[in-house]
Amino acid sequence: MFLELKNINKSYNGNAECGTRNAERRTKNSSEFRIPNITALCLSEQSELNKNSSLLNNISTSANKGILQITGESGKGKTTLLKIIAGILKPDRGEVNTFNKKIAIVFQENRLIPWMNMLENIKFVMGNNYPDDKINDLISKMELNDSENKYPHELSGGMCRRAAIARALASEPDILLLDEPLNGLDSDLADKIMKIISGKMKNGLTVLVSHQAVDIQAEYLIEL
Ligand SMILES: Nc1ncnc2c1ncn2[C@@H]1O[C@H](COP(=O)(O)OP(=O)(O)OP(=O)(O)O)[C@@H](O)[C@H]1O
Ligand SMILES: [Mg+2]
Repeated sequence: MFLELKNINKSYNGNAECGTRNAERRTKNSSEFRIPNITALCLSEQSELNKNSSLLNNISTSANKGILQITGESGKGKTTLLKIIAGILKPDRGEVNTFNKKIAIVFQENRLIPWMNMLENIKFVMGNNYPDDKINDLISKMELNDSENKYPHELSGGMCRRAAIARALASEPDILLLDEPLNGLDSDLADKIMKIISGKMKNGLTVLVSHQAVDIQAEYLIEL
């Protein structure tokens, strides 16, 4: 088994994780992640949190190898559920089991490291001994050749998306979490990228969040 969700519930209320707490934790641990004006950020989020909106209600599923697709309109909680699976957010109730499998995530925003070029971004998740030919193969499959030395701000939106996917694949995960991975890609390229992902993840589980229809046969489906 790769993934088991049992009665997952989540609402954003007064008890929800506030971004500020994470920010404070990061500030303590690393001088590189200082975020100014924390207090202002917290206050504005707090009023949002007080709305006490129930989001995920008793979501249960179990999934083995293949593709688990999570669909639903904007704001239904797809990203929230993905973050719960990744262990970034805690559910209010319920259990998540990922059976100690290795997880990689492509966030809805690319989250490339701005001061690293594309190659450095991809290598960032690899051990030092990762063979160059594997990196080159990944870059060429993603059609990112000749842009390895460019920084994120020098890449197009679609290139950043592919670089973020390449970075996640480079870590050779058992479970790959993808939040709207095809945003910014035209349909031909999107099909190609999905085929590459399916090939690389043929022995693992891909959790694919999408609000638009994706031409793919998913073994498991959660509709929010
Ligand atoms: N940290 C947070 N604090 C309070 N509310 C939040 C937080 N994160 C998300 N929400 C709220 O939860 C709801 C679901 O958000 P989420 O990002 O999970 O939706 P989504 O289905 O991924 O939407 P989209 O398709 O637009 O990406 C939204 O109403 C959002 O405002
Ligand atoms: Mg989302």
